[in-house]
Amino acid sequence: MKRILSGVQPSGRPHLGNYLGAIRQHIEMQKDFEAFLFIADLHALTTVRDAEKMRAQTYDLAVTYLALGLDPKKTVFFKQSDVSEHAELCWIFDCITKMPYLERAHAWKDAVDKGNKEASVGLFNYPVLQAADILLYQPDLVPVGQDQKQHIEMSRDIAQNFNNIFGETFKIPEPFIKENVAIVPGTDGQKMSKSYGNTIEIFADDATLKKQVMSIVTDSTPLEEPKDPATCNVVKIYKLLATKEETKALEDKYKKGGFGYGDSKKLLLSKVLEYFHDARAEYQKIYPKKDYVYGILEEGAKKAKKVAEKTLTEAKKRIGYL
Ligand code: ADP
Ligand code: TRP
Repeated sequence: MKRILSGVQPSGRPHLGNYLGAIRQHIEMQKDFEAFLFIADLHALTTVRDAEKMRAQTYDLAVTYLALGLDPKKTVFFKQSDVSEHAELCWIFDCITKMPYLERAHAWKDAVDKGNKEASVGLFNYPVLQAADILLYQPDLVPVGQDQKQHIEMSRDIAQNFNNIFGETFKIPEPFIKENVAIVPGTDGQKMSKSYGNTIEIFADDATLKKQVMSIVTDSTPLEEPKDPATCNVVKIYKLLATKEETKALEDKYKKGGFGYGDSKKLLLSKVLEYFHDARAEYQKIYPKKDYVYGILEEGAKKAKKVAEKTLTEAKKRIGYL
């Protein structure tokens, strides 16, 4: 059975972009792969500076995955900070990775371009830790959204580099990116992202969800006139959740006229509520069960550690530590 591995940062409330770009694939793929999934709380320290927030967002993400169908019997589900091998392998990779190479990383370049003088060494080093996360588990595929493509390529380079210096140790992983949902647009038309405040959150309460959907930016074509579905953000998001027939029906309404953006937003809101109906109920049910949720993460960490230890020992032998 082929192996997959992925991680998600506990950096805010999960949204449709996270779900369609990453979470849905992680959950679907657990049927056919040996799956490892972790909460990337070490990476989150590049932005989160508050212990309560770190705890709450980590917990929220764990409940999110369980509510959406992650099966802890099928997927090894754990917290990155519980498996110290990640940080240890990161240091080893640091010593064979060149600074100019990391300066080419998008996230670092963005921070520098924005004149961010506070950008940390951790942010600079982010792709190296991610390479350690991945390579410790020797996965075949890494399912992520399009924006993570460069990070996976860097992991491949780092694996190859280590293998060239010390001998074959790491499997070279492949990214797995679902093309049609590669980038989910946010309420303002840019990429949906926590950092842009343009998200539609899967588990927001009804009133917040309504506010988020109603805030989708549209043009000012009057209600009675025909509209172009291809350029409308509401349609772009609706398409990702609806069937082909439902999408066609909405596009026809746009082309005919007499159908306003308010109407289409209401349709999208009911689609989101319908699509996530069961998951939203599960979320409410699981959230209070702290022992159950933490128990799953602890069990997951034990299983993950076994695999991580094995790979790290192999790397240490190659280097000459053992
Ligand atoms: P955010 O940009 O909201 O901070 P993250 O960087 O934490 O999101 O991304 C978590 C996962 O969700 C990644 O695999 C990423 O590729 C995916 N993802 C995030 N936003 C989108 C989007 N708008 N469209 C598709 N996938 C996305
Ligand atoms: N950088 C990823 C993100 O922001 C999270 C992540 C950390 C990850 N380590 C990983 C994803 C390893 C895949 C594999 O979404």
